[in-house]
Amino acid sequence: MLRGVSLRLGDGATALLGPSGAGKSTLLRLLNRLADPDSGRILFRGEDIRALDPRELRRRACLVPQLPAPLPGSAADNVRFGPSLVGRDVSVERSLELAGLSRSYADRDASRLSVGEQQRVMLARALALEPEVLLLDEPTSALDEDAREGVERTLADLVARTGVSMVVVTHDRGQASRLASRIVELAGGRLADGPAGVAAP
Ligand SMILES: Nc1ncnc2c1ncn2[C@@H]1O[C@H](COP(=O)(O)OP(=O)(O)OP(=O)(O)O)[C@@H](O)[C@H]1O
Ligand SMILES: [Mg+2]
Repeated sequence: MLRGVSLRLGDGATALLGPSGAGKSTLLRLLNRLADPDSGRILFRGEDIRALDPRELRRRACLVPQLPAPLPGSAADNVRFGPSLVGRDVSVERSLELAGLSRSYADRDASRLSVGEQQRVMLARALALEPEVLLLDEPTSALDEDAREGVERTLADLVARTGVSMVVVTHDRGQASRLASRIVELAGGRLADGPAGVAAP
């Protein structure tokens, strides 16, 4: 449940920071219409998102869920799936590589990869859609420290290399400041007080 949240998310990387139950995932889901607000509206580049085709919106603002849920089949099958739905071509190798996986992963059964590798397959799957914005829900919560650092490096490289924007949900203030140039803080379904939670201009 979110209340009275008014903010503007700019290009680049923004972190949504807050404790469990703060409303971080809810806010992320609102951004690509996995949920709709009871009141208020959400604009994407000036357009009300309810006026956009949900599939096109989810391609442009693509959500990577907290827990990897690969489709049956190989990593390459996973990467090709989204683009095939919207009739787009995809370079499997490039998507995997941007997500930090070598091409040798392409033919591996996604369900047999480690959670960290699956997380990267989910990222590659999102990148294959060439989104404008990646919505990442706690992208490292299931990972150990080494894997977490690897994914953080991959995400930082991605923003620098591709210009994709990111909204990263995290409960880890350190991760928020490592990954994002702006931190939006939520608590109890509202923007938290203090400079970090203040809505943008
Ligand atoms: N569809 C829903 N209907 C009613 N309440 C919901 C719904 N989805 C989530 N909530 C409630 O809204 C609050 C925020 O949930 P949300 O999943 O956004 O938290 P979060 O900040 O992502 O927490 P976590 O760090 O544990 O993932 C919780 O109290 C949750 O129970
Ligand atoms: Mg959550």
